[in-house]
Amino acid sequence: TSLAPVITIDGPTASGKGTVAHRVAKALGWAVLDSGALYRLTALAAINRGVDAADEPAVARVAETLDVRFDGPHVYLEGADVGHEIRREAVGNFASRVAAFPGVRQALLERQRAFRLPPGLVADGRDMGTVVFPDASLKVFLVADVVARAERRRKQLIEKGISANLDDLLRDMRERDARDTQRATAPLAPAADAQVLDSSNLTIAQTVQAILDFWQSAANP
Ligand code: CDP
Ligand code: CDP
Repeated sequence: TSLAPVITIDGPTASGKGTVAHRVAKALGWAVLDSGALYRLTALAAINRGVDAADEPAVARVAETLDVRFDGPHVYLEGADVGHEIRREAVGNFASRVAAFPGVRQALLERQRAFRLPPGLVADGRDMGTVVFPDASLKVFLVADVVARAERRRKQLIEKGISANLDDLLRDMRERDARDTQRATAPLAPAADAQVLDSSNLTIAQTVQAILDFWQSAANP
């Protein structure tokens, strides 16, 4: 049996992975996997249970026993809709810390692979092309200048009515980038066979088109 095709989109925070992954999936009629959500759900479950972010065995147990359900735009943790809650900065920071634990990554591996169903999957994260779907049909590594990313994040927050200081965002973003690229297990890095795409000066539509063009060439070599 041949597995369904996968397009992986990895890259640093606010490079546009999530937005672009959803639009590419929509254009192809495929499903999406927001793998970061699984790390955020693990973080939220751990926070709710009062587990310390430094307690690797305890956080790994939380990941192993995670009771989650994805339903379109909704995400449920133990039956409760937590779509908004998992987007909190504190949850993202906790997620980025515990994502360094091999036991947590191992616990989430098969859960991510289960999203690979016909007609296809667009998966976004940090290690989709390197670890989770090493045989993906197309691997994209989406990058953007850190200042462009901080400005995008600030705009996103302002639209939600949250004021944000660019210098604080830049500092947090550099910290998150360093933690994601320097960890020993599944660090953020392009797969050897990834297409590196710099979206600093591209609109969302241009970025989506570039990926669909890559896919066209990959599907019709
Ligand atoms: O929105 P943002 O890009 O900041 O984060 P996210 O994609 O929601 O992921 C939250 C955290 O989970 C990231 O900072 C990563 O450390 C971690 N993560 C990971 O290690 N591997 C993935 N495949 C996805 C996320
Ligand atoms: O998933 P990731 O953290 O990589 O990024 P995102 O949440 O998809 O995108 C962060 C913000 O940048 C969103 O508000 C996007 O609309 C915006 N964006 C942009 O302005 N230009 C792009 N080429 C890509 C994303």
